[in-house]
Amino acid sequence: MANRETWATRLGFILASVGSAVGLGNIWRFPFQTATNGGAAFLLVYLVAVVVIGLPAILAEFVVGRRAEISAIGAFDKLGHPGWRAVGALGVFGGFWTLSYYSVVGGWVVRYVGASVTGGYVGNPAEYFGAISAGPEAIVLHAVFMAITVGIVAYGIEGGIEKATRLMVPSIVVILLGLAAYGATLPAATEAYDYFLSPNLGVVIDNAPSVIPAAVGQALFSLSLGFSVMITYASYIGDDQSLGVDGATIAATNTFIGVLAGLVVFPLLFAQGVSPETSGPGAVFIAVPTALADAGMLGRVIGLAFFVVVLIAALSSAISLLEVVVSYLVDTHGYERKRTAVFLGGVVFTLGLPSAWNTAWLGWFDSIAVNLLLPVSVMLLVFFVGWVMAGDAVDELRTGAADSLSDLAPVWLWALRTVVLLAVVGTVALSLFELTGAPV
Ligand code: TRP
Repeated sequence: MANRETWATRLGFILASVGSAVGLGNIWRFPFQTATNGGAAFLLVYLVAVVVIGLPAILAEFVVGRRAEISAIGAFDKLGHPGWRAVGALGVFGGFWTLSYYSVVGGWVVRYVGASVTGGYVGNPAEYFGAISAGPEAIVLHAVFMAITVGIVAYGIEGGIEKATRLMVPSIVVILLGLAAYGATLPAATEAYDYFLSPNLGVVIDNAPSVIPAAVGQALFSLSLGFSVMITYASYIGDDQSLGVDGATIAATNTFIGVLAGLVVFPLLFAQGVSPETSGPGAVFIAVPTALADAGMLGRVIGLAFFVVVLIAALSSAISLLEVVVSYLVDTHGYERKRTAVFLGGVVFTLGLPSAWNTAWLGWFDSIAVNLLLPVSVMLLVFFVGWVMAGDAVDELRTGAADSLSDLAPVWLWALRTVVLLAVVGTVALSLFELTGAPV
């Protein structure tokens, strides 16, 4: 494929990957998961999961993508293991599934950006959220969000995704830093930091069967693993790049932004005296406006900045989820990019209709994605890279790496084969128990 696209620069690839990783997962999902799973204890398990499972797994996806130089499903053929195509297909399906409800939440965010300007949610945030989050209005907003996503993906890797995320990621960091500084001035900040940052290990131990899979799922989701995004993105990079350094940079930046989002959200949640446990998917949408209501004009500006950042983060992730499927059809079947993006956007929109109609469906779609499709897909991929690709995987990780790092490649392989694989298998088992409601 002589004229296949590539990233213009290494930084472009890193920013696009960070743009994929940083999204609703960090700012919308992470706070309410933390709140329902024991606060700082959840954060701790999450951080361990990022290092022990997330980083080795992101490298596994990079290795597959760069070696094959083709998007997810075709990659397994090209590496000489056509029997494993199903793993790529599962990933592509998972991405599709996830985007369907992700876009519904994205639609809420679009609405909240508008409402921050007009003051729409100021009177009664809970009622406002109830009115726009499900039903006809949510469907229209879901369509708007999907349309913007399609628009960016239609312009391709360099012209669309790379250009967009180059601007998006730095803006996210700058605005979140400003908001965190504001959060620090609130009287509730001390209590909030304590809740978010000083773990009570008893909580993890007592609730291990639910806290651990939730934290691992969150770590994988946040790093955009499992759904072939990182395979696809890595298929556009050159052999001179060190995958290890890039992977660590991406994981660290994503985690930093997640924790930063917590430092923004928790002081706001605590500021209104509501305990964070009480809030589910509506957490940031209800709590942030409520907390800002007393702050007058300043509150309006801060609310706007907050929801703009969430929107940018959501878009840069949504484009990655759509890109996976688009690039598969473009690469493997020679479809034309623009038309494919529009068509697939329509399919994803349709799949998202139940989630837009009723938030209970949204919760169900989310739990199937994060507790089932995601860990299963990562488990199969880790097995594939560890035990099937094996030596080839080590060679690929070494390519472009400095000597000192290159020596670590076999260690990584053995970690994948043992610790990482066992940890993911354990997560899948616990998730299945949780999902089927069987007693553990
Ligand atoms: N990581 C993104 C977030 O945190 C969501 C996302 C984008 C994703 N692409 C993905 C999750 C691929 C899993 C797989 O919001």
